[in-house]
Amino acid sequence: MLDPSHWQALQGEAGRVRAAGLLPADAARASEFALRVGPLYASFARQRLDARARDALFALARAAGLPQAFRALVEGEQVNTSEGRPALHTALRSDLGQSAAAREARALALEARGRMDALHAALEASDVTDIVSVGIGGSDLGPRLAVDALRDFHAGRFRVHFLTNIDGSAAQHLLRGLDPARTAGILVSKSFGTQETLLNGALLRDWMGGADRLFAVSANLGRAQAFGIPPERVLPMWDWVGGRYSLWSAVGFAVQLAIGRERFAQLLAGAAMLDEHALTAPPERNLAVWHALAGIWNRNGLGLSSSAVLPYDQRLSLLPSFLQQLVMESLGKSVRHDGSPVLAATVPVLFGGAGTNAQHSFFQALHQGTETVPADFLGVVRPAHEHGHHHDVLLANLLAQIEALGTGWPSEDAQKGYPGGRPSTLLLLDELSPHSLGALLAMYEHSVYAQSVLWGINAFDQWGVELGKRIAGELLPALSDDAVAAGDPVTRALLDEIRARR
Ligand code: F6P
Repeated sequence: MLDPSHWQALQGEAGRVRAAGLLPADAARASEFALRVGPLYASFARQRLDARARDALFALARAAGLPQAFRALVEGEQVNTSEGRPALHTALRSDLGQSAAAREARALALEARGRMDALHAALEASDVTDIVSVGIGGSDLGPRLAVDALRDFHAGRFRVHFLTNIDGSAAQHLLRGLDPARTAGILVSKSFGTQETLLNGALLRDWMGGADRLFAVSANLGRAQAFGIPPERVLPMWDWVGGRYSLWSAVGFAVQLAIGRERFAQLLAGAAMLDEHALTAPPERNLAVWHALAGIWNRNGLGLSSSAVLPYDQRLSLLPSFLQQLVMESLGKSVRHDGSPVLAATVPVLFGGAGTNAQHSFFQALHQGTETVPADFLGVVRPAHEHGHHHDVLLANLLAQIEALGTGWPSEDAQKGYPGGRPSTLLLLDELSPHSLGALLAMYEHSVYAQSVLWGINAFDQWGVELGKRIAGELLPALSDDAVAAGDPVTRALLDEIRARR
């Protein structure tokens, strides 16, 4: 457990590093601040921390009990304290847990995989050509990212689409291009109580003329049945898997339908490799710990309040959206497990976009803005296309941006100078495959968890999203009925404005 003195000591380290000016960009640093795990190579050489600060961070990780916390996670201890639950997403892909809870979770996960395979086979034997996966948040972002990122690995049997937003134009545009007789729907909702998913699901059911080709993935079998989906077409979810950590469960059914059973298994195997690494590697050689500590350093040492995710691969263009939920829903907390205020600032605002496109939109602010924005750059060494020169240009830009941000460039003309010292991490994948994607996403999951442990917060609840849902429920009748008085005076004035212009 960390106390205020730990955070003060970290700030002291940061003050020392800042006062020393820019860090050297030499070959020794390049190798001392890098590590490889399977298909992932990570360079932290452009982070603004020296060996002494790095060692202080490792000491902090040990003081927070990080190695034990990883063990607690995989063994199914109740790490989600506000809901009294474990967070056993590792059991969806790994055999690491030895406790009864972890083994039971693993058995349930394997049983669900068997049911996914059977339903997959039945769909393959049918006339269905298109799959619409309906879900939102964690029931959408992971599968959507994986289906998009792994487009080079699609089996070709099904076209997979996603319907998320309650904005009716999303359904209208999607369904316009599909044949209801050859479309199957998957309603993905752990609670089966999410307004957007239920409304879009009902719209899909009406469009299809019934629920005959509807499937569900849910922890609430009763509600799915009440919706018209029989138990044999409901794949399970459990309260011990958080939505944003659920890609590896039947929530990933759409991914399996897109890329096939073997490649879905490879995705899980990549994550399992990272699970074992996170659990067994000492902090000094642990990629998830390094990544987490770089985040802690930037947030709590250097006091930086935002961070960017910049994949230099078009196939990873949805990664920033996925990570926004994973990071900001998990770490967007101000109180610790016991309800007391956090001792240090928590989640940075995360945004991002694919390079090189992002270079031509918001990179100006990264280079010369008054805010320093630490960034994760991602690159893929071997492309999956034949346009080698394009790939060289892409990689040249990737490396150039990291160097420009880190090293800077002095100029006598104040408009044209680059300050340098703008921190980044480079994550290089040998290639983008189901295996490497699984490893990458699991690395982020474990980094998020590690940060939550250092801050003493719960990475697995999201109470902050409830109030808005409740108020929306109260306001809904007021949109169509002037007599309903809902909302505070400002909201009521806005309702009047909307009603007057309908
Ligand atoms: O509103 C936030 C949230 O609860 C997310 O945490 C979750 O991933 C999403 O809604 C969808 O929830 P469900 O899977 O229950 O429909």
